[in-house]
Amino acid sequence: MSGHDQPFELPAVGLGTWQMRGETAERGVRDAIELGYRLIDTAAAYHNEEAVGAGIRGSGTDPGELLVVTKFPEEDAGREREVLRTSLGLLGVDKIDLWLVHAPLDAAGSLRIWEQFIKARDEGLVRAIGVSNFLPEQVDELIKASGVVPAVNQIAFGPRYYDADVAPHHAAHGIALQAHSPFSENDLAHPVLRGIADRHGCTVRQVLLRWHRAHGVPVVVKSVSPTHLTENLDAAGHPLEPEDVAAIDRLGINPTRGQPA
Ligand SMILES: NC(=O)c1ccc[n+]([C@@H]2O[C@H](COP(=O)([O-])OP(=O)(O)OC[C@H]3O[C@@H](n4cnc5c(N)ncnc54)[C@H](OP(=O)(O)O)[C@@H]3O)[C@@H](O)[C@H]2O)c1
Repeated sequence: MSGHDQPFELPAVGLGTWQMRGETAERGVRDAIELGYRLIDTAAAYHNEEAVGAGIRGSGTDPGELLVVTKFPEEDAGREREVLRTSLGLLGVDKIDLWLVHAPLDAAGSLRIWEQFIKARDEGLVRAIGVSNFLPEQVDELIKASGVVPAVNQIAFGPRYYDADVAPHHAAHGIALQAHSPFSENDLAHPVLRGIADRHGCTVRQVLLRWHRAHGVPVVVKSVSPTHLTENLDAAGHPLEPEDVAAIDRLGINPTRGQPA
């Protein structure tokens, strides 16, 4: 069984929208697109797809230039098509660019959802399908059982969860890794991060984004502040010294991945 020849292309920094609601979400999405963000990450469970869709339309940008990502709540297993139609309607798009299983169930449960994902992709309702919060072994089980390789696995990848085996495992299958929660899932006061930030005259958040960049792992970051949105886009463009990357790698304290939001 072969993986993807070319991993799904994700921008280095995408916009996260968890906990954004209503007008704040609409404005946040519009501002982010105007500032250059091209990937917008939402989920049925965030209850903001309508506002996200309004923000996309408000930006005046052709949806064809954007990557709209939404997630299927695994607890809605059995209602995949209904939930997808609702997401399409609320977002106001003809097609979802990337549809993710929000979190794994047991192997049989994940497989049942995945089979519905494959059908939706084959019928052209979604462009690409992927997973989120799957461990490497859960990815392997899904591929073995279905023969279909997820385009993307969106996980908590920050220093707190760093596991050197994860990226090579995904690369071997041609699965694009994407990191969520680069700030909220990491200890921003950690002395190693603080020390690197002080030496470089930047913030700990900028160090974290540069560390993700050094590992070639794109991130989704949430912000409703135009200043923060700009800072986050710029930060990812700057390289970090290899010794700083190695020092941060050593902070990985627990291979348990984050819980879905
Ligand atoms: N697949 C999953 O299960 C899963 C789980 C969690 C998250 N996610 C996705 O990942 C996205 C990001 O994760 P997250 O929302 O948990 O948290 P995050 O992006 O790690 O952090 C967001 C927080 O950081 C602040 N912030 C952002 N940029 C900043 C800057 N430059 N300076 C100072 N503060 C800054 C934001 O406040 P301001 O708005 O005021 O800037 C917000 O309070 C989510 O929104 C969601 O789309 C997915």
